[in-house]
Amino acid sequence: MEMRSWLQSPSSLTHGNIIRREIFSKKDPDDPHKPGAILNSIDSFSRCYLESRIASIPTSFDDRQLVFYVVDGDGIFETADLKQDVHEGDGIIVPPGTTHTLTNEADTPLEFLILEEALADAAGTPREDVLIRNYRENPLSQGHWTHLVHSIFGEADGLAKLHFVLMVTIDAMQTPDTHGHADDMDEVWYMLEGNGIHVVSQNVYRQVPGDAVSVAPSNPGHTLINDTEEPLKTFYFRRSPDS
Ligand SMILES: [Fe+2]
Repeated sequence: MEMRSWLQSPSSLTHGNIIRREIFSKKDPDDPHKPGAILNSIDSFSRCYLESRIASIPTSFDDRQLVFYVVDGDGIFETADLKQDVHEGDGIIVPPGTTHTLTNEADTPLEFLILEEALADAAGTPREDVLIRNYRENPLSQGHWTHLVHSIFGEADGLAKLHFVLMVTIDAMQTPDTHGHADDMDEVWYMLEGNGIHVVSQNVYRQVPGDAVSVAPSNPGHTLINDTEEPLKTFYFRRSPDS
């Protein structure tokens, strides 16, 4: 399975009051048929929200680092030494052992994504302090013909497993090149705005907001074609093969 919407996954709770829909998780040899358990290294990728005027319960994980990305709404992220407003486009790296709270004081839900990096089999060293960065703080670059890329976080930021966390836009009526990936990596595209046709090997998906597509393996390749007259905007993460 390559494409999965958060709508296909059951709801669960994390941080007390965060409503979580896990889209993809790490392959589980004890449960090989678990829906969405297709990732090689990254432990979990979820779409989450906090209801209006609700705060999460202060939470800390000793065994994992979390990466948040705010999709929509306004929130307050808080730890023992930090209190900061967060908005659309903000990424947050929460190191292991950091007690943190997310509060939504607005009248609308706060929507965000959470990536989890378990430390047990992590090659990288996690951060010691929280890092909050909006993707707009990083310059735009172009690759694969038409990928318009803002980096959110990279290895140098203290990711434990992830190599790239990006915002990738593809403009109206544009196609990237077609390139392939082996099955020894994780590369996932999550549609935030707009829509396009994602070709992965011989499969064709109409990818709309809320759909995540995993493109490893893809033989001979994958390409996300924007066949519409509006830009499409995606949240992207990748772990390359171990070298
Ligand atoms: Fe790719």
